[in-house]
Amino acid sequence: LKTIARKKDLKGKKILITAGSTQEKIDPVRYITNHSTGKMGYALAKIAMQRGAKVTLVSGKTSLSDVNFVDKIDVTSAKDMFEEVKKLEPSQDIIIKAAAVADFRPKNPKDEKIKKKNSSNVIELEKTDDILQYLGQNKKANQFLCGFSMETENMIENSKAKLERKNADLIVANNLKTKGAGFGTDTNVVTFITKDATKELEIMSKEEVANEILNEILSKIDK
Ligand code: CTP
Ligand code: CA
Repeated sequence: LKTIARKKDLKGKKILITAGSTQEKIDPVRYITNHSTGKMGYALAKIAMQRGAKVTLVSGKTSLSDVNFVDKIDVTSAKDMFEEVKKLEPSQDIIIKAAAVADFRPKNPKDEKIKKKNSSNVIELEKTDDILQYLGQNKKANQFLCGFSMETENMIENSKAKLERKNADLIVANNLKTKGAGFGTDTNVVTFITKDATKELEIMSKEEVANEILNEILSKIDK
């Protein structure tokens, strides 16, 4: 019933959402990843769809089921995600980067399983591309860019720096150490950071957070 009841205030808007974690190959058996479950990104995709948007979801690894009426593209690594996002971004009105993208990947992933005998205990890493930063540098006219920021300390200060560095219009910040926030939970505690304001929200479900994020974005682009 909620679905029908939602105001279709995003009708006509094309929204690209990234969600979940990326996996960076070490060898055919192992990879580097993080604790992201994709819940926040999938909630955003669902609510944006219910509010009438045309949603494309670029999803890293999650165990969540598909969201009805949302185009989903599955990716594995940060590089795969970057390639898909680059293809899709020019036509989007709103881009929301909820994915937890790996910052580093193994420099020389192996085709054969690494054996403990005769192998070093060091994996050399290289930086991945910062997708949000790329989007900020290539932002189209009237395109709205929303990033996330996960911190364990100095959340506001670090997130403000990300807003600027990545040329984003909104950063949704959360502190991993706050109860009810972060990975795997059904709730989140977030702070909206824009150029001219910092707004702290109460604890609420990820779907409610998604609604609030979309309200915030609409209030900024409808001006
Ligand atoms: N992000 C991205 N590509 C990367 C790394 C991060 O697009 N290679 C995006 C994330 O999707 C998120 C935002 O950048 O929207 C912030 O991610 P976060 O990990 O909090 O910040 P980083 O800039 O990676 O800095 P750090 O991890 O050092 O805090
Ligand atoms: Ca990071």
